[in-house]
Amino acid sequence: MQAHERRIVVLATGGTIAGQAASAGDNLGYRAAQIGVGQLLAGLAGPAGFAIEGEQVAQIDSKDMDFGVWRTLAQRCAHWLAQEEVAGIVVTHGTDTMEETAFFLQAVLAPAKPVVLTGAMRPATSVAADGPQNLADALAVAGSGQARGVCVLFAGTVHGARDVQKVHGYRVDAFASGDAGAVAYVEEGRLRVLRAWPEGATVQAVQALPDPAQWPRVEIVSSHAGAGGAFVQALVKDGVRGLVVAGTGNGTVHQALEAALLQAQSQGVAVRRTSRCLQGRVLPHAGDRLPAAEGLTPVKARIALMLELMGR
Ligand code: SIN
Repeated sequence: MQAHERRIVVLATGGTIAGQAASAGDNLGYRAAQIGVGQLLAGLAGPAGFAIEGEQVAQIDSKDMDFGVWRTLAQRCAHWLAQEEVAGIVVTHGTDTMEETAFFLQAVLAPAKPVVLTGAMRPATSVAADGPQNLADALAVAGSGQARGVCVLFAGTVHGARDVQKVHGYRVDAFASGDAGAVAYVEEGRLRVLRAWPEGATVQAVQALPDPAQWPRVEIVSSHAGAGGAFVQALVKDGVRGLVVAGTGNGTVHQALEAALLQAQSQGVAVRRTSRCLQGRVLPHAGDRLPAAEGLTPVKARIALMLELMGR
């Protein structure tokens, strides 16, 4: 690589994109996070005019994502984004918590350059692996000069960090942006941009993130038929700092659970209301006793509340 050549950096964290099965026909019985970033990038050209550099940040199944990996990943993103010759970053990641990591990175980096998360629904050993095309498309987004901020590239579609959700457990087109819709498509390495690139302010600087052991404990509870308050009471007793309730419909909560949440709130626990519905957003109303989480899904509201509590 020549000095000052434009670069795209690929930060690998594991997932199915790096998964291996015993046979090419097996798309289910594989182990995630087996092959390294060098192998992921082997044979991939990337966009013209860019050198591609790989770094292994973690090697995990993303169901096991933790705050330590998040902090390290955010720090490595910040490091590379600060290099003038780096046009953008691609993060390879398991699909299961990709939307959480995307939201977290946007909240702590809000980068002007693109940080593009991608992965795969089929392991690298699959006869029809989707990882290589997703990675090639993610590199195209990172080098396009059109993208900004944290986004997810999957199955030829670019989703914003705030809106993206994994909506299917098997199909290769596993992600959607709900009401907001996709930001762009990637077609033969070119972006077709559909709407304004989502932006957001940094709500917590990477450098200020405390040691992961100090991150405030925020849990998610769900409202459903027969819900009660015992779980909430146990969590409060155990020192929880925040609670996100996945409510029904427009964030309504079973009266028994609501009573326990109001009690927790009066004891200083921060409570946020979200919805179990896959689409739409909780619309706040005058007189709400439990504040709504600004249209976030339960898992993203939890991250937002953790970061809010860290800033206090
Ligand atoms: C994971 O999330 O690491 C495993 C599942 C996947 O990547 O699709």
